[in-house]
Amino acid sequence: MNQPEHTIPEPENAPVSPAQQPPRIRIIFATNNAHKVEEIQLAIGDSLEVISLRQAGIDIDIPEPHDTLEANATEKSSTIHRLTGENCFSEDTGLEVPALNGEPGVKSARYAGDGRSFEKNIEKLLHRLDDSPDRRARFRTVISLIWQGHEYLFEGICEGHILHSPVGSHGFGYDPVFVPEGDTRSFAQLSPEEKNRYSHRRKAADQLVAFLLQTQ
Ligand code: IMP
Repeated sequence: MNQPEHTIPEPENAPVSPAQQPPRIRIIFATNNAHKVEEIQLAIGDSLEVISLRQAGIDIDIPEPHDTLEANATEKSSTIHRLTGENCFSEDTGLEVPALNGEPGVKSARYAGDGRSFEKNIEKLLHRLDDSPDRRARFRTVISLIWQGHEYLFEGICEGHILHSPVGSHGFGYDPVFVPEGDTRSFAQLSPEEKNRYSHRRKAADQLVAFLLQTQ
């Protein structure tokens, strides 16, 4: 028999070679925005692998037909779960303005029509608000996670107000007209790190990450 004559005991806490490591559990993020995937992966660390729809080999345009952020987020995550059977999550965000009965809300991306132009959306928002003294607004992000077959919802809110005209050149969407509570500058005048301190998306993602880390 080809038994080794001596067995060298493994030292305690010996480094584990990559081949011996258990495969990382992966989770699909229902987006193709590589920036969003990277942000969440950084926050979660190495224990879980976050992959985009493209990386999961999924090439579909998931409809967002509902009139709440929650229902649209659920639609996206449950569609991906039905297709793959894997753990997955999705997010949906809207700008909610009380003086406009919550508009643009779930329609934030397409407020001014199907063109999806950030400038036109802002124009329509400012036109609708006109010189209303009530300029309160909030960004709200909803994340729907399907983890081991069960759905969990997480929410992140950033309160603020709408300016009378756009200022700043950073960011995207409604950033040039939105000032977060606690600051005097618009989101578009903040660096990404500064915006991240207030960000609705970050607050929702923090809760998702806390949940996922606690399940490890
Ligand atoms: P999504 O769900 O992240 O795609 O966001 C939907 C729409 O909300 C975007 O197309 C933007 O118009 C708006 N939006 C979402 N997040 C932000 C933000 O952080 N700043 C400005 N606009 C945003």
